[in-house]
Amino acid sequence: MDFKVADLSLADFGRREIKLAEHEMPGLMSVRKEYAASKPLRGAKIMGSLHMTIQTAVLIETLVELGAEVRWVSCNIFSTQDHAAAAIAVGPNGTVDAPAGVPVFAWKGETLEEYWWCTDQALRWPDGTPPNMILDDGGDATLLVHKGAEYEKAGAVPSATDEDPEEWHIIIDTLKRTIGETPGRWTEAAASIKGVTEETTTGVHRLYEMHKAGQLAFPAINVNDSVTKSKFDNKYGCRHSVLDGLNRATDVLIGGKVAFVAGYGDVGKGCADALKGQGARVIVSEVDPICALQAAMDGYQVTTLDEVVSIVDIFVTTTGNFNIITADHMAKMKHNAIVSNIGHFDNEIDMAGLAKVAEKTEVKPQVHTWVFPDGKQIIVLAEGRLMNLGCATGHPSFVMSNSFTNQVIAQIELFTKTEEYPVGVYVLPKHLDEKVARLHLDALGVKLTTLTKAQAEYIGVNVEGPYKPDHYRY
Ligand code: NAI
Repeated sequence: MDFKVADLSLADFGRREIKLAEHEMPGLMSVRKEYAASKPLRGAKIMGSLHMTIQTAVLIETLVELGAEVRWVSCNIFSTQDHAAAAIAVGPNGTVDAPAGVPVFAWKGETLEEYWWCTDQALRWPDGTPPNMILDDGGDATLLVHKGAEYEKAGAVPSATDEDPEEWHIIIDTLKRTIGETPGRWTEAAASIKGVTEETTTGVHRLYEMHKAGQLAFPAINVNDSVTKSKFDNKYGCRHSVLDGLNRATDVLIGGKVAFVAGYGDVGKGCADALKGQGARVIVSEVDPICALQAAMDGYQVTTLDEVVSIVDIFVTTTGNFNIITADHMAKMKHNAIVSNIGHFDNEIDMAGLAKVAEKTEVKPQVHTWVFPDGKQIIVLAEGRLMNLGCATGHPSFVMSNSFTNQVIAQIELFTKTEEYPVGVYVLPKHLDEKVARLHLDALGVKLTTLTKAQAEYIGVNVEGPYKPDHYRY
C-alpha cells in the first residue's frame, strides 16, 4: 500500500481516539448501519482532500464501510493530526508492520511543495487510473483537475509570473511535471469524475464561479449550504475551536480584553459569541449591511478595522476574503497583539507584506512573534492559516458528524444518481437536511413534538416534514 504519514507508530493512539469519536458521531454511525448491506459506494474511487483529523478518520472509514475505495490528503499544510493519519494508514485490521488501511498522504507541517505532491498522489490510483469522485474542502483537488484538463486542452501550461503568489508557482510546476509524465492524464480525470462534494464556503464560492464561467467539468454538491452544515459547523464549531486555538497557542486570558472579529457570517457569529462568552469586549467589522445590523443587535460595536486597530488585543479574521489585515494595520497594533485567521485561506492576513517590515521568531510550532524595527512585536498564529486547525484540533466530533453525514449522503447521491445531476452546483434536498438533524437528536436527549394531522394541514406541511420552504433561512 502506498502512503506517506509522519509516524506510523502513532496508529494505536489514533485508533483509541477514533473509537471515542465514533461515539460522538451518531450521524455517521447510523449511516454505516443503514447502508451496511447495500453498500451504495461500491465501485466509487473517492479522492478526499479534507483536514486529516480524528473526525475525518471516522468519515473515511464510513466511506470504506459503504464500499468505496479511498485515497486521502489534508486540505491544509498544518491541519493533519499525525495520529489520525497513522491510524487511517494502518487501518482497523492492519498492523504497523503490515498497514492495511487507506492510502493517506498527510502530515502536520507540510511544505507547500509537499502539499501539492500529496494532492497529486491521492488523485492517482496505483494502476494509473484517476478517481471517479472527489470529496473536497476548499476546492484545491477540484482546482488541480480542472486546471490540468484546461492546460492539456490548450496544449501548454502557462508560466507563473513574479506577480503570482508563491503557491501558484508550485501548482504550475506540479501540472507541468504531471502532464509531462502522463500526457492526457488530467483530461481523463476530468472525464472520469462523476462529481465533487464540497465542504466549505470558500470552495463552494469557487464552484459557483467556475459554473458561471462555463468551466465546471462535473456536477457538484454544495455540502456547506446544507443547514445542518453551515449553521452548525461554521457557527457552533468555530464557537468551540476558536477558543481552543487561542488557548493552546497563547493561553492568554480573554476576559476583559478587546477582541476584533472581521466578518459576521456564520463563522464570525460563532467566534464573536465565544469571545463574548469569555468576557472579551468584542468589536465586529462587516461590509454587508444585513450582517452589520445583526452584529449590532447582538450587542457588538460594529466599526472599521482602521478605527480600532491600535486598541485591540486579539484579532480573528473570518471573511473568506483577502487582504483584511494589511502590513500597515499590523504596524499600528499594540505590543503582543494576537493576530489570527479562521477563514479557509491564509490570504486574509498579508503575511508577505508583514515579512517585508518585521522579523519572525518561532515561539513554538505555529506560534510566531514578528518584531518591528521600533521593537514592538505582534503574535501571529498558524502563519495566518486557519488557527483552529493549525494551533488546535479543529471542531469537535459531534458537530463534524453533522457536516460529514451530509458529505456521505452527497457522495451517495452523486455516485448512484449521476444522471439526475447534470453539470451544475446543487444543495441536498431539505428532507435529507432534516434527516441529518434527526440523527443527532437522541444523543442530546431532545424530544421532538409531533404535528397533528390538522396542524400539519393548517401550516401546509406533511406530518413527517419537510417543515420549511427552501427559502427559509433558519
Ligand atoms: P460567510 O459568507 O457566511 O461570512 C463571511 C462574512 O464576511 C460575510 O458576512 C461577508 O459580508 C463578510 N466580509 C467579506 N469581506 C469583508 C471585509 N472586507 N470586511 C469585513 N467583512 C467582510 O462565510 P462563513 O461560512 O462564515 O465562512 C467564512 C470563512 O471561513 C470561509 O473561508 C470558510 O470557508 C471558512 N470556514 C472555516 C472553518 C474553520 O473551521 N476554520 C469552518 C467553516 C468555514
